[in-house]
Amino acid sequence: MRVTDLIERKRDGGALTREEWAGLMRCYAAGDIPDYQMAAMAMAVYFRGMEDAETEGLTAAMLESGDRLSLAHLGRPRVDKHSTGGVGDKVSLVLAPLVAACGVAVPMMSGRALGHTGGTLDKLEAIPGFRTDLPRDRAVAQLERLGAVLIGQTDEIAPADKRLYALRGATATVPAIPLIAASIMSKKLAEDLTGLVLDVTTGAGAFLTRLEDSLALARTMIALGERRGCRTVALLTDMNAPLGVACGNAVEVAESIALLCGEGPADVREVTLALATEMLLVAGLTTDATAARARAERAIDSGDALEMFGRIVVAQGGPAGLVEDPAAHLASAPVRRVLAADRDGIVQRVEPRAVGSAIITLGGGRSRTTDVVDPAVGVLVHRRPGARVTAGEPLLTILARDEAGAGAAAAELASAVSLADAPPPLRPLISHRVTAAGVEELPVTVAH
Ligand code: URA
Repeated sequence: MRVTDLIERKRDGGALTREEWAGLMRCYAAGDIPDYQMAAMAMAVYFRGMEDAETEGLTAAMLESGDRLSLAHLGRPRVDKHSTGGVGDKVSLVLAPLVAACGVAVPMMSGRALGHTGGTLDKLEAIPGFRTDLPRDRAVAQLERLGAVLIGQTDEIAPADKRLYALRGATATVPAIPLIAASIMSKKLAEDLTGLVLDVTTGAGAFLTRLEDSLALARTMIALGERRGCRTVALLTDMNAPLGVACGNAVEVAESIALLCGEGPADVREVTLALATEMLLVAGLTTDATAARARAERAIDSGDALEMFGRIVVAQGGPAGLVEDPAAHLASAPVRRVLAADRDGIVQRVEPRAVGSAIITLGGGRSRTTDVVDPAVGVLVHRRPGARVTAGEPLLTILARDEAGAGAAAAELASAVSLADAPPPLRPLISHRVTAAGVEELPVTVAH
């Protein structure tokens, strides 16, 4: 079967068989299918969608395009978390050491900046010397020794996703439920996990902006995980505003270290603790959510999670002393420009896509797969929706390499923060919990 025939069939609304997806992804991973044909296929899927059996087939094909970790010998639960993407989302950097400090093995395999969203790997690589491309043997040895490793998909593990993920980012084909589900689950299922917690973001800054699509994505990924014996749970989290204050790479590392010290913005801390609670539950450490959360909080308060992060950094090539003095090691931007409130009022919205797009303009993200990321640049979001501000108060700070970059970002961010006289509608930060048993609407704990 020719590739053009398969593209044509998908374009016209037909389905590919499991064998056809397997052949297609095998050839793509081997470099035998050019990007332009795969881009056409991704666009066809974007418009036509996939049947459940196709999503299963594509996930299996991407999983089987590489090797899998084999971790049963660790003798303890192995749990990871993955986010469907957002702006200012540095949760993974805090969560992996935190959950590992509680005694769970965390083989965390993350992605790079995609579209307007940031990527955990780019953030980690803002730490001088930090290697996210560890060979498999070294990653496993680190897991045995420390209980956590933070790596990217390599040429060995889910290589088809590695290529397709970058291609989708450059061809506006990210927001398709089957493609997101297969991308995430192929990486995660290669990790030999006993449990997986998904942070499915929803709202203006997420790839899927509508709640019903985010719920459908959560259900699709849970079905893929559970079918392979991996207990999978999802929390739906709000991405109508950037998460936390720091958006960028080095600044998000610094904010993560603050969170591990028990400081930092309340919204990131809440999402992190909620996900940590779920990870400890799927790990089977306890069946009581209150006890799981208390365990996670203790790991921060005792300094164990921070110490674990420092050990991971050193094990992966970063500097000793990062957690004691982040500013001495992390790049900082030479130019800072403050955007201030032009009136008294209450913040209605902070547009996450405008912030994400400004970061790309500044050089902190990618618009082409080959772009090199500048770790120092970013945007600080000083006021969240619901905050009362007075005229002249800083709303955003642009961190730029030069004045031209600051000017371009300022133009993009000119209307990113809107003010009004009345408070905005309340939105729960974490709205739903989804498991194989169904969807539970959560009581509002933190909202904006
Ligand atoms: N994260 C992934 O790993 N893949 C996607 O497609 C989206 C977010």
